[in-house]
Amino acid sequence: VAVPVGANVFNQDAWLSPLAIKEIFFVNNNNTLPVPPLLTGTLNDAGQKVFELNLQRGQKSFLPGTSTETFGINGDYLGPTIRLSKGDKALFKVTNHLGERTTIHWHGAHVPAAMDGGPHQVIEAGETWQPSFEIMQPAATLWYHPHLHGKTGEHVYKGLAGFFIVDDEVSDSLPLPKTYGVDDIPIVIQDRNIDPDGTMNYTINNMENMMGFRGAYILVNGAVTPTLETKAQMIRLRLLNGSNARIYNFGFSDNRTFYQIATDGGLLQTPVPMNRLRLAPGERAEILLDLRQDINNYLILKSYSEETTPSLMRDSMMSRGRMMSDDLDMQTFDVMYIRIGEIGDNGASLPSQLTSIDWLQSATAVRTRTFVLGMGMGMGMGRRFSQSTERHMFTINGQSFDMNRIDETVRLGDTEIWVIRNQSMAHPFHMHDVQFQILDRNGAPPSASEKGWKDTVLVMPNETVRVIARFDDFADPDHAYMYHCHILEHEDDGMMGQFIVVP
Ligand code: C2O
Ligand code: CU
Ligand code: CU
Repeated sequence: VAVPVGANVFNQDAWLSPLAIKEIFFVNNNNTLPVPPLLTGTLNDAGQKVFELNLQRGQKSFLPGTSTETFGINGDYLGPTIRLSKGDKALFKVTNHLGERTTIHWHGAHVPAAMDGGPHQVIEAGETWQPSFEIMQPAATLWYHPHLHGKTGEHVYKGLAGFFIVDDEVSDSLPLPKTYGVDDIPIVIQDRNIDPDGTMNYTINNMENMMGFRGAYILVNGAVTPTLETKAQMIRLRLLNGSNARIYNFGFSDNRTFYQIATDGGLLQTPVPMNRLRLAPGERAEILLDLRQDINNYLILKSYSEETTPSLMRDSMMSRGRMMSDDLDMQTFDVMYIRIGEIGDNGASLPSQLTSIDWLQSATAVRTRTFVLGMGMGMGMGRRFSQSTERHMFTINGQSFDMNRIDETVRLGDTEIWVIRNQSMAHPFHMHDVQFQILDRNGAPPSASEKGWKDTVLVMPNETVRVIARFDDFADPDHAYMYHCHILEHEDDGMMGQFIVVP
């Protein structure tokens, strides 16, 4: 019996044997996890690795029997994975075939401001943008996506995003899974609303969407709750929360321990064992999952409500298919199925030491800046958004983004402490140019899973997070870097500021 994806076929209280559940998931869910194609560039005479990225419109069938209009990069939806090593010089040829302007930003990359792809580096319809830069940072899972002010949410939602993986001598030398798409797998999680006719509508016309656009379907690498087929071996998942607004709290259906090995900007010093991993929009984490004892087993990658005690059967039945979007963060739902086959022989293991991190010392900071995340005036919760043509609901230091205003000026080479104080809902705060380290959350040191290089940090309501960063290498008084909330509706609304780095 074919179960249409999206149909609410399970009675929450029905009891099904584990075998029946297995059959429902794995016989009927014939939806294999797609892996984005890998691009490693073509060497040119100048010694640069050249990448061609074509931003284009497409059509994709997310739900059986329907077709959805999408945006993609060299394809219908999402883009190829760019892979480079530290020390490589890269040249990108980004051609915009969308018929409308956009930009492409290298999220997490340490690059000159003029190459950063922020709101000022517009690629007009029909044009090609050709940024070039050297990879100067350690191995990490970065990503790229549009950053056109006011349109970032829509452009990402329609499908413009891709992975940007950096390798270095440290990551190369570790016994980690390294075969792209086989045991080293990029996993971008996005939530989308898809109407029964296939339409993927992005309209910010009410307060709920303004608070962050959440979708009822969970897409992994562009497929609705797909199945990853793997051998029984150690695998590495490079998790990217590429959703516009949804925060996930990942775990596995048997509540097993997995190991976080990397944060946004690179490897952790040592693997961190955990059974839950919270990831806000824009954040990445690499995890190792030990499947060596799981021959012919199956697992589900889920997002757990923070209150729910995991229970495989009940949670699975409740979470299959279409869900209510309004209370989804409080629900437990399936993200991806994992079907494990025969024993594998990739030889990967869990290293006890991953890398060493140069910790920035507070005493070396020459400046402290404070950023207050807040709600704008006159836009109280009780007022209906649709009655107002004025946006600018979310602010930083009481101000809305202005392309013509430089908010902060940083001196090249300085170490600074940025204090992010949240007087509003949860916001993932992201900085361009640098990878920072979290000093504390409300005065308490960060958890082991956040003790590493970060470019995005979730700041909870009434929380104050202090981060420290050093602004090296690139000074340019004429080009700005952004800092902003990575809930894309908030960013588009103006919850963003810009800084320049000057000599
Ligand atoms: Cu992921 Cu300013 O961006
Ligand atoms: Cu960024
Ligand atoms: Cu926000």
